[in-house]
Amino acid sequence: MSALLTSLITLSAQPAGAAVGCRIDYTVNDWGGGFTATVRINNLGDPVTGWSLRFSFAGNQQVNTPGWNANWTQSGQQVTATNLGWNGTLATGGSTEIGFNGTYSGSNAAPASFSLNNTTCTGTTDPDPDPDPDPDPGNRVDNPYVGAGVYVNPDWSAKARAETGGSRIANQPTGVWMDRIAAITGTTGARGLAAHLDEAVRQAAGQPLVFQVVIYNLPGRDCAALASNGELGPTELNRYKTEYIDPIASILARPAYANLRIVTVIEIDSLPNLVTNVSPRETATPQCDTMKANGNYVNGVGYALAKLGAVPNVYNYVDAGHHGWIGWDDNFNASVQLMCQAANASGAAPGNVQGFIANTANYSALKEAFFTADTVVGGKPLREVAGGWVDWNRYVDELGFAQAFRQQADSQCFDSNIGMLIDTSRNGWGGPDRPTAASTSTDPATFMEESRIDRRIHLGNWCNQSGAGLGERPKAAPEPGIDAYVWIKPPGESDGSSSAIDNDEGKGFDRMCDPTYTGNPRNNDNMSGALGNAPISGHWFSAQFQELMRNAYPPL
Ligand code: GLC
Repeated sequence: MSALLTSLITLSAQPAGAAVGCRIDYTVNDWGGGFTATVRINNLGDPVTGWSLRFSFAGNQQVNTPGWNANWTQSGQQVTATNLGWNGTLATGGSTEIGFNGTYSGSNAAPASFSLNNTTCTGTTDPDPDPDPDPDPGNRVDNPYVGAGVYVNPDWSAKARAETGGSRIANQPTGVWMDRIAAITGTTGARGLAAHLDEAVRQAAGQPLVFQVVIYNLPGRDCAALASNGELGPTELNRYKTEYIDPIASILARPAYANLRIVTVIEIDSLPNLVTNVSPRETATPQCDTMKANGNYVNGVGYALAKLGAVPNVYNYVDAGHHGWIGWDDNFNASVQLMCQAANASGAAPGNVQGFIANTANYSALKEAFFTADTVVGGKPLREVAGGWVDWNRYVDELGFAQAFRQQADSQCFDSNIGMLIDTSRNGWGGPDRPTAASTSTDPATFMEESRIDRRIHLGNWCNQSGAGLGERPKAAPEPGIDAYVWIKPPGESDGSSSAIDNDEGKGFDRMCDPTYTGNPRNNDNMSGALGNAPISGHWFSAQFQELMRNAYPPL
């Protein structure tokens, strides 16, 4: 049962002179005894900075805190919701959506009236409540990959083709990484951004073509690891804006490129770190604490979204980690909230986000064929086996995670037409060790060991994983809610060096890339599972490229 109930009436002037006017759209999805309430606050008066919404339940409904997009409290029948940092400002005509899950017995009538900053909301019902209130400055298609080719990076292609057997995949589209300021004009062996775009126009030959570029140079980059530390220090937000994002935006905006569909992958492995790798968690690093405290990840991502999103043919996809990172309940919603915060920072709006990308540069399997988190083995669902492979995670693979993430993002601040990308460059897990049927064991640990497609030692392992293979080939609209399978991480490029190597890119040595390392709290003190003899991140790693081809699934 779903009902849209709206409270109405007149505007009353606030004593201080600012006119408060509001309309609340209160929508309930009721499944009997429990419900989800979605509450859209529409500001019809003067701009509001900081708000508090109050209403009282008619019955014995109870808000399950924390709820989302607001601080929710309840005392008796009285409910109060106050703004979070990112949604405190409501322009005239602006709105924000908040919500909660609740329980009740008896009847579940909607509250009769609402007040915003102590003024009763009297606005009349919107005959057509708009679930997509953010103006989209461009004339974008819903899914840029549909009906379009995808750019093949000739620099990567040449390296792939030079490998024995590499010609089988050398024509696949891969991401173009702007991993430092110098990459914009070009570095040894890699052409600059404009040269790539010129080549993209040539490849397009008048047909729709997606150009995939990775925006990857935040201040204090890679705060929970060392392998991809970058050139900008934690405080260098200004350089990020003026020397990195601005020049990229101005190149993308050139009229010569107006017919390309430019997909930007925004800052992988950044925002989720501020949820999972900060104090007081055991997984905290001082660098992530710093980046949370100084706001430069949030503001940097916001700036990139605003600047790049102002180019009408740019499609921004924000990194959403992967299921083995933010698939747990305490990370999932908090990550979406943080993304809402970033999408409202530094001039950005949620309408600047066309979607999210999962599994960039990671190894999580696309589909676990032989179990779900709810599969019961030895009398218990797998997710409830503490310390097991699933270990309370809601998801066991990237497809399930990405589809759920999309829904959660839509239910919070993002538009309903967002889509997901899944990086399948290295999550195939084919080869001789791939299981072909579910295990018949009733011991959960044995069952999992014999049934899982993801062959990593631990889900937290991320560097040059031994046994990995190429995953699904890039493909448009493969599943509901998924805009495309993509190869953003170019197969054959290292995740990090297996021992310390001097370099001038700011890259450090992370022991997660050392095959002899016995781990840290972020991989629950397991072996790293990394291949030996690896060069620094981004550099060509022939042995890994060969292994990825050998273990490809689907096979080559
Ligand atoms: C890594 C590196 C970066 C490289 C990218 C793609 O994250 O830090 O330099 O461009 O991978 O291989």
